[in-house]
Amino acid sequence: MPDKIKKHILVVDDVPANLKYAEQLLGNTYKLTLASSGMQALKFLRKNTPDLTLLDINMPEIDGCMVLKELKETGQTEKMPVIILTSEVDTDVELKCLALGAVDFIRKPFVTEIMLSRIETQLELSAYRNRLEHLVAEKTAVIGRLQDVMSTCFAELVESRDGTTGGHIKNTTMYFALFLDELSRHEEYRDILTHEYKRDLVRAAPLHDIGKIGINDSVLRKESALDKEEFEHMKTHAKIGGDTFQNIFNSVEEIRHHSQIGANAFEKICDEMNIEESSDTAFLHIARDMALYHHERWNGTGYPTGISGEDIPLCARILSIVDVYDALTSKRSYKEAFSHEKAMEIIIEDRGIFFDPTLTDIFVSISDKIKACLLSKEH
Ligand SMILES: [Fe+2]
Repeated sequence: MPDKIKKHILVVDDVPANLKYAEQLLGNTYKLTLASSGMQALKFLRKNTPDLTLLDINMPEIDGCMVLKELKETGQTEKMPVIILTSEVDTDVELKCLALGAVDFIRKPFVTEIMLSRIETQLELSAYRNRLEHLVAEKTAVIGRLQDVMSTCFAELVESRDGTTGGHIKNTTMYFALFLDELSRHEEYRDILTHEYKRDLVRAAPLHDIGKIGINDSVLRKESALDKEEFEHMKTHAKIGGDTFQNIFNSVEEIRHHSQIGANAFEKICDEMNIEESSDTAFLHIARDMALYHHERWNGTGYPTGISGEDIPLCARILSIVDVYDALTSKRSYKEAFSHEKAMEIIIEDRGIFFDPTLTDIFVSISDKIKACLLSKEH
């Protein structure tokens, strides 16, 4: 069998005779790396992940348990099966090894057939798991692309009805992405703004005004400022948008409920693979919160619910700043576009009144980048 398609096995044992025996037994079928101490094994594993590791438990200095512990901490036991080589039955040690991620045991002296069978079984399971992971990742990517396309289409649909806000959704999304990048550099937001959360935020942001679909043309396309009654009607877009996503969320949950076996199996796989559970519903939650709360104000004078401070979901607090910035710097039939400097001045004035003060400070700190983005769309 040529080397390139041979599975790679690391054998760790401090007894030279055992390494030699493993080499004689496995050398023709597998690509082998031999390590005669725990330290040597760790040194190798810090740079390589073979297909499987055979690990002796009783070794001087760094024993098998210590090697396993490090592999568990680095997450390597999730990618590579580790079979423990042990001379005697010791239930406590076996339980400890299992808890640290070992998948099986082979007793010494080795019985050839048992050794080969256990290695082959674990390699097959591992290959199956890899294929499954690949499939799930592929499906997740397809769902993601579908969300992108739907998000853009719906956003464009809203915009096509609203002649006065040309480019608003696209601009807001650009400022929003810049803002998120900066926020994730700050300690207080670094842990919250995970890769998945940021991805969902950017996908959901263009949909924040989707409720405008329910607004009458006479109000939506009006070329002068709205009167009180018209403005009240316009304000309902936040609630309409929020309800829209809530209804989609409810339908998805109902579908899940009716296919619970499949859902359980999928969630188990996600769990084992550390994929954030139900990323589809996470996206819908974010989209709902952005649509419903993007006109709320820090001091509680916003709409539709009048919640205040940190009760307003973070995604909506972030969006409300860029949404207002874009509205201020855009030309409307009833007003000229404000300059970047004037818009920033207004936002700073409303720091802690309309807008989250910490977020406002961070937004102001990237004023130059936001201005460059504004100027690039003007040309
Ligand atoms: Fe809005």
